[in-house]
Amino acid sequence: MSKTIIITGTSSGVGLALGNYLYEKGYNVYGLSRSVPTNANFSTIPTDITHEKEVDDAIDQILAKNSKIDLLINNAGRGMVGPVENATKNEILNLFTLNIAAPTYLISKVLPIMRKVNKGKIFNISSIGSEIGLPFRGFYSGSKSALDMITESLRYELKNTDIEVCTINLGDIRTDIADHRIKSSISNVYIKDFEKVYTHMNNDVNNGLAPDIIAPFIEKLFTQEKKLKPHYYFGTAIQKLSRWVKLMIPQTWFEKIIAKYSGL
Ligand SMILES: NC(=O)c1ccc[n+]([C@@H]2O[C@H](COP(=O)([O-])OP(=O)(O)OC[C@H]3O[C@@H](n4cnc5c(N)ncnc54)[C@H](OP(=O)(O)O)[C@@H]3O)[C@@H](O)[C@H]2O)c1
Repeated sequence: MSKTIIITGTSSGVGLALGNYLYEKGYNVYGLSRSVPTNANFSTIPTDITHEKEVDDAIDQILAKNSKIDLLINNAGRGMVGPVENATKNEILNLFTLNIAAPTYLISKVLPIMRKVNKGKIFNISSIGSEIGLPFRGFYSGSKSALDMITESLRYELKNTDIEVCTINLGDIRTDIADHRIKSSISNVYIKDFEKVYTHMNNDVNNGLAPDIIAPFIEKLFTQEKKLKPHYYFGTAIQKLSRWVKLMIPQTWFEKIIAKYSGL
């Protein structure tokens, strides 16, 4: 029987590429996003994952046809840009609701199902930026850091089961993420610096890796017998190296490198 996979955020970008690839490989794929893409081969259940009732209904629909869920990929997420000083409580809560509370709710829904067969995997899509407080992306970096830490905690809590969880921390990927970011207002004192950084960050995404090359990497993690590590990193060599550089040099030096790399 083919394995059942739930992926959130499948109407575009990484989730869409992943859904189509895994479907072509013969998996039983359910995508959860608010809009239904026209170019998806897999089934989409239109769902706003920040609404618990909609998630409950989607899971019920999946369970009506499948007795188990083999893999949950918490992929849906948004970026947020702007100065820390200018972010509103609503913007921050919207971001953390989508990037943290929603994937956590999905985890709480699939764990009891996975526990019945004592098997399953959960991949939380994070960012290499979770380990670096990037300029004008403080809340995005913070939301992905929180996702990393929640994942680490959950690994201890699942240690007596065969249910495994990890994060997959991406570098820049060529998707429409820039168009979907929450953008705070920018007060005058920040405009010059913000514009420089904003141009850089958008160029980085536009020149990022193609989303479809992530899919085989993720399938390998799903099928491997070897226990999952807490975190996997997928990006260019320089993006992956940045994590090590941060650990090896004084942070004030590292800040200078990031400032230059960001266009400041
Ligand atoms: N692209 C990068 O450079 C990059 C780098 C590091 C990490 N990531 C992470 O990779 C993941 C995918 O991003 P992407 O680049 O593929 O961005 P994207 O093209 O903007 O895709 C985001 C997906 O999330 C879905 N989504 C947003 N709000 C939702 C909601 N309330 N309920 C259900 N689905 C929702 C969107 O679908 P609807 O709008 O139709 O709901 C869309 O399918 C994100 O977690 C992102 O943080 C991306």
